[in-house]
Amino acid sequence: MYTQAMDTAPKEERSALEDAALQQRFDARIDAGEFIEAKDWMPEHYRKTLVRQISQHAHSEIVGMLPEGNWITRAPTLKRKAILLAKVQDEGGHGLYLYAAAETLGTSRDQMIDALHSGKAKYSSIFNYPTLTWADVGVIGWLVDGAAIMNQVPLCRCSYAPYARAMVRVCREESFHQRQGYDALLTMMTQGTAAQRAMVQDAVDRWWWPSLMMFGPPDAESPNSAQSMRWGIKRISNDELRQKFVDACVDQAKVLGVTLPDPALKWNEARGSHDFGAIDWDEFWRVVGGDGPCNCERLAARVAAWEDGAWVREAALVHERKRSLKEAA
Ligand SMILES: [Fe+2]
Ligand SMILES: [Fe+2]
Repeated sequence: MYTQAMDTAPKEERSALEDAALQQRFDARIDAGEFIEAKDWMPEHYRKTLVRQISQHAHSEIVGMLPEGNWITRAPTLKRKAILLAKVQDEGGHGLYLYAAAETLGTSRDQMIDALHSGKAKYSSIFNYPTLTWADVGVIGWLVDGAAIMNQVPLCRCSYAPYARAMVRVCREESFHQRQGYDALLTMMTQGTAAQRAMVQDAVDRWWWPSLMMFGPPDAESPNSAQSMRWGIKRISNDELRQKFVDACVDQAKVLGVTLPDPALKWNEARGSHDFGAIDWDEFWRVVGGDGPCNCERLAARVAAWEDGAWVREAALVHERKRSLKEAA
């Protein structure tokens, strides 16, 4: 843990005038496109917003290991097993970078884990859907990691520098995740049997709409977005990112030879983009609220992993105590 002090003086020791000057300087730095570091003064609301966003992001990475982790023992070839193992391990690493970035804002790992396990903290709704076949693993790489890249590339320019730095590393690995998924699907579609091609189409049918939900509610119903855009935390709106994702996927689906399950999907010459059908936001809110197909299962798996790992944490702490005693002696 490397939680850092966020402020040079306790709040009560500063006058309102000094606070206003700090706020003004912060706003000017944001307007100038400067990065904010952990030791810099920042408004409490900015800090809280970042803690919420970065910890939710970290939770999504480690909960996201579960749906695909189910398939490591059942991967069809040694090559696919090695790739999937590396990919799932990367997601654990992304969680670590992000928990560490959130800790620079003065929250602790224990607080964040506790919020996840008690159901207070959210994570991406997509990971509450089941992985029924091997094709789901390919589709998660193509669509879910693909949507994650769309969402995360702009975060490399986020105004909070420790988050931006973490995202640079995350994005490099995400692009490998997307390609390995697409490659697995392409192999099944071009060299597979009719049953395998049908399996891919079925997985696309189930994951397409939840993938579009990954960009969050429509801009008009996303009141926090405007503030995040002003602070330079968010650079592109939910609806814009969703549109870019749909446009990119249409051509990729053609190459694969799958149909995206949306009869309203069609090119709009005037907009220079694809129109697409209505998203079922009731389903989105239901799953975010805890009532998705696998919410209970995912949380139970995380809590069990935490409890099973207690002896590792204890042993590491004892080892560290012994090491520092030895060093002191
Ligand atoms: Fe990731
Ligand atoms: Fe990923």
